[in-house]
Amino acid sequence: MESIDIYKVGLGLWKLPESDCADIVYNAIKIGYRHLDSACDYGNEVEVGKGIARAIEEGICTRADLKITSKLWNTYHAKEHVELALQKSLTDLGLTYLDTYLIHFPIAQPFVPFETRYPPEWIFDTESDSPEMVIAPVPLQETWQAMESLSEKGLVKEIGICNYNSGLLNDLMAYAKIKPAQLQIESHPYLTQERLIKLAKSYNISVTAFSPLGALSYLELDMAKQSESVLEKDVVIKAAERLNKTPAQIVLRWGVQRGCSIIPKSSNLNRLKENISIFDFSLSEDEMTAISALNINKRFNDPGDFCEAAFNKFYPIYD
Ligand code: A2P
Repeated sequence: MESIDIYKVGLGLWKLPESDCADIVYNAIKIGYRHLDSACDYGNEVEVGKGIARAIEEGICTRADLKITSKLWNTYHAKEHVELALQKSLTDLGLTYLDTYLIHFPIAQPFVPFETRYPPEWIFDTESDSPEMVIAPVPLQETWQAMESLSEKGLVKEIGICNYNSGLLNDLMAYAKIKPAQLQIESHPYLTQERLIKLAKSYNISVTAFSPLGALSYLELDMAKQSESVLEKDVVIKAAERLNKTPAQIVLRWGVQRGCSIIPKSSNLNRLKENISIFDFSLSEDEMTAISALNINKRFNDPGDFCEAAFNKFYPIYD
């Protein structure tokens, strides 16, 4: 059995309600989580910071034991806004540095001052008669250079990207002076992304899979149907029976065993424990292959769909 790398399972903080967030973060650290996946856009960084501070104050862990990620929102891509955005996240989280700072989407939008709205989300003018998402002409190379300077100043230990495709990644590698340490992408058995993961590995970039349980994250947003849950697939259920684990543990184990980090979110203490208890068993090669074969290239988190449906703008980033 491989050695346990507790950082391979992080707590995803997207959609954790503000009211419970500090307690969930604190409890997650208490039961062993050491990797937290935050973002400006999740709107709960102040609460996340409170949970972290309580855990550190109580001596459950030190700051150095934690790996904390946050993400640069679309409205802060211009070079003069990147450090401002990082400092806001650091202040909200109550931290002096981040372990990892990622460009959240390869999508640049016009700047929205903190006083106007925070987090700014997708719509530019929420008061307008026809509110819509607006795009700003900021090249990703400019944003990356500003990310590099955060790293040079020691404000972040690692920099990286989310939601990039192979073309953007190849391009980034051509101009990056400081290479990306991490790529975060949607990946689960219905969207295995084998080529992109192989490419990232060839560049020595570690891959973090978000929404590792697939459809589950999107049910509450009406972006998926219960029937799309991978937990009900025969191969998953059979492996769960063989190993005396839950279907969720099987799918999460598959995510880690294929070499990715995963960041499942849960607001429930039992499920938090379940999701981190995946290092005392392994899937057979046949089980790994059968779960990978569920792939149907189904993307639940696709700006090409939700920006048009919800923000009045057709703006695909994947073909
Ligand atoms: P809950 O917060 O009520 O536990 P993802 O991380 O892939 O985005 O998925 C998160 C979704 O999956 C949430 O709706 C979460 O609900 C649910 N979830 C998290 N862990 C489990 C689990 N072990 N079993 C079933 N559902 C889970």
